Amino acid sequence: MTTREIQMKKIVILSGAGVSAESGLQTFRASDGLWEQHKITDIATPQGWEKDPELVLNFYNERRKQARAAMPNDAHKALAALEQQFDVTIITQNVDDLHERAGSSHVMHLHGEINQSRSSMDPELVYEIDHWEVRMGDLCEKGSQLRPNIVWFGEDVPMINLAVPIVTKADIFMVIGTSLNVYPAAGLVDFVATDAQKYHIDPNGLNKENTADFHIIAKKAGEVMPALVESLLKQ
Ligand code: OAD
Repeated sequence: MTTREIQMKKIVILSGAGVSAESGLQTFRASDGLWEQHKITDIATPQGWEKDPELVLNFYNERRKQARAAMPNDAHKALAALEQQFDVTIITQNVDDLHERAGSSHVMHLHGEINQSRSSMDPELVYEIDHWEVRMGDLCEKGSQLRPNIVWFGEDVPMINLAVPIVTKADIFMVIGTSLNVYPAAGLVDFVATDAQKYHIDPNGLNKENTADFHIIAKKAGEVMPALVESLLKQ
């Protein structure tokens, strides 16, 4: 961490699929969302992978193709601009790299990254994917099938232990575009300091118990973030 970052106020963002919705990537739990079209158990669990790895690879290949074609939207770009004046960490549940491509420097992917594969035998063996497709027969260096480097339901979320201390130190904390349905990610809001400035940005973000004391902005992230960021940069 640089001296400049130590002196700056800390902003921590917890983002979810909604922040990428305006880039054309589907969310999970909308009526036309991914989990309405696919069974979670088939696609996003170790059991689904055991049962039909090709189905799982195809699902994530499609996600990868779409994510690579998508462009950062105004919300991603506004969040990147916060770094002019704040020490910003983005803790995202998203597996796309749109925060990075918008220019954010500290992005923590709680649920993995779509542009990485990993060994199905040794979780330490992670590889960058420079094309859109992982196929049956693509192997790690120890000879086991490559799987997407995505955290599935029923698997540990190792990054959560790094995320908690970052959240506790936030001067400003924003929840953007997540239904807060999936734990342990959603539980991060419980670690925010009581005196932090707190925002929840989501067109359907009203009435969430765990963000009841947040400043709720029930609008699309791409519509609201540029002005909100501008006002924070003037603080
Ligand atoms: P969800 O699909 O559960 O929630 C997306 C949220 O984004 C909803 O609350 C929407 O109202 C909101 N939203 C939609 N459009 C928006 C916009 N333009 N601006 C702001 N908000 C908008 O997605 P997540 O909460 O990200 O995990 O889902 C969490 C995890 O569940 C994902 O990481 C994924 C999924 O299963 C795994 O696959 C492991």
